[in-house]
Amino acid sequence: LTIGVLVSGNGSNLQAIIDRIEDGTLPARIACVISNKADANALERAKRHGIPTHFLDHRAHAGRESYDAALAELLRSHGVRLVVLAGFMRIVTPILLGAFPHAVLNIHPALLPAFPGLHAQQQALQYGVKVSGCTVHFVDEGTDTGPIIIQAVVPVLDNDTEETLSARIQKEEHRIYPDAIHLFAKDRLTVEGRKVIVAPAP
Ligand code: GRF
Repeated sequence: LTIGVLVSGNGSNLQAIIDRIEDGTLPARIACVISNKADANALERAKRHGIPTHFLDHRAHAGRESYDAALAELLRSHGVRLVVLAGFMRIVTPILLGAFPHAVLNIHPALLPAFPGLHAQQQALQYGVKVSGCTVHFVDEGTDTGPIIIQAVVPVLDNDTEETLSARIQKEEHRIYPDAIHLFAKDRLTVEGRKVIVAPAP
């Protein structure tokens, strides 16, 4: 499976995917890593592993559609079949989704549909929930609304800060994102309306 990873920041999820590919437990190849931020640490991580990188500046485009058309073209030129959003801080449009139907994944640091959007961990702490977690889902036209593939749960502790809760959640992110890509690579995911059906392992 040829994947393209879109990033804006640290890239710890990108790293988790690279590690699983390199240890032979994820049958995929990262064809390119694309960032809308020139200084994203994720780009350094990719370079360290010999993965082609691109900085695609959204400020050079008049609107989201024209930016997404450029993104889609770049991904296509690398032969990408699955687009993986890993801390990509941009809303994607139907232009990108149409170019990769049912083939764009995202990870969100909360148990969707709770706490979509920005600062999900802070939202969870403020609400006072006793568990939170993370969600890998197909991307649709809404914000964090697409069909759910895998979720993982973590406890929320009384003395948690945004940092401690985020760290606990990230540990699970780094496990379930490669797992979800694995399911996609093995053709085990079928989207039926809102639901993702996961075929049993052969
Ligand atoms: C993660 O918390 C992810 O859930 C959210 O953005 C963050 C990216 O972190 N979508 P990293 O860049 O992968 O370290």
